[in-house]
Amino acid sequence: MVLEKLSSSTDLHTGRNFAIAWKVFPRLDERYKKQFLDWIFPVDAEFFQNKLVFEGGCGKGRHARIVSASKARAVFAVDIGEAVDIAYRHVGHEPNVHVIQADIANLPFEPIFDFAFSVGVLHHLDKPKEGFLSIASKLKSDGSIAVWVYGQENNWWLIYLVNPFRKAITSKLPPKVLLVLSAALASPVYLWAKLVARPWQRLTERHRFLPHLYYQEYLSYIADFDFVEIYHIVFDHLVTPVAFYVSRDCLQEWFEQSGLPEPVIRWHNKNSWTAFSSLNRQTLDNMKERLKKRATGGNLASASGDDR
Ligand SMILES: C[S@@+](CC[C@H](N)C(=O)[O-])C[C@H]1O[C@@H](n2cnc3c(N)ncnc32)[C@H](O)[C@@H]1O
Repeated sequence: MVLEKLSSSTDLHTGRNFAIAWKVFPRLDERYKKQFLDWIFPVDAEFFQNKLVFEGGCGKGRHARIVSASKARAVFAVDIGEAVDIAYRHVGHEPNVHVIQADIANLPFEPIFDFAFSVGVLHHLDKPKEGFLSIASKLKSDGSIAVWVYGQENNWWLIYLVNPFRKAITSKLPPKVLLVLSAALASPVYLWAKLVARPWQRLTERHRFLPHLYYQEYLSYIADFDFVEIYHIVFDHLVTPVAFYVSRDCLQEWFEQSGLPEPVIRWHNKNSWTAFSSLNRQTLDNMKERLKKRATGGNLASASGDDR
């Protein structure tokens, strides 16, 4: 359902490049469930039950698969590129999943969804705010939405070093060359994450007076994964022609413009933002409560919703 003349050429380019990533790294990993629920918290797996769900930018279908298994009434998983072929291979057989090739900016839906989410996608759009507004406009009158985006805060090295490099060079490289380059860059990232960031994170959790290393929280988090996943993460960062780094204020403004109530926003791993809002007051209050509980009761979060 992608009409090339309606879609931005940059978004089509992004879709084509990501399709390469999904074709090279199609495998599914059991750790995706924990990662997904971390990204969308305070939403949990039970929240999907009996809901009509929209996913914007489904990639290889790893999240649609979890939503489907969480007993959603149906999930419509949308991607602009040939990622949909991989997603269909993974989840197309599930009776409650529909995989559709469509552009977030021109969605072929009425406002019917109980819940819409988009993880790691809006910051890759030519016009991220318009993409968000387009998704939000497909919610029914008591629907809810959750998005996860790269943060502007604490990401200077990606903004000033990686961004120009990927724009000018890596997003234009032939896939085989980019695979070799990504493997070379992924190796030190993998070793640093496993041998330095993870052990140091454990130490700083036990001894709060110790200084934090830059990007320690994120690198310690991805140290759970094996080399192939980290290789994929690096490849993803370099293959995309566009990546915006969204500030908290900017994200808040998107919600304001959509007419949704003020969102709950959470800083994730000190490098990205998760935001949730709902047109249903009770649902929004429940989510606020859940965040507060984790912030005060858990040892991983602070009262501001920072879930480090
Ligand atoms: C970083 S990937 C994230 C995929 C998935 N959410 C995940 O976390 O596994 C971004 C995905 O968004 C898709 N995408 C980019 N622009 C899009 C658009 N305008 N409409 C729909 N999908 C889009 C890309 O093709 C790609 O598969």
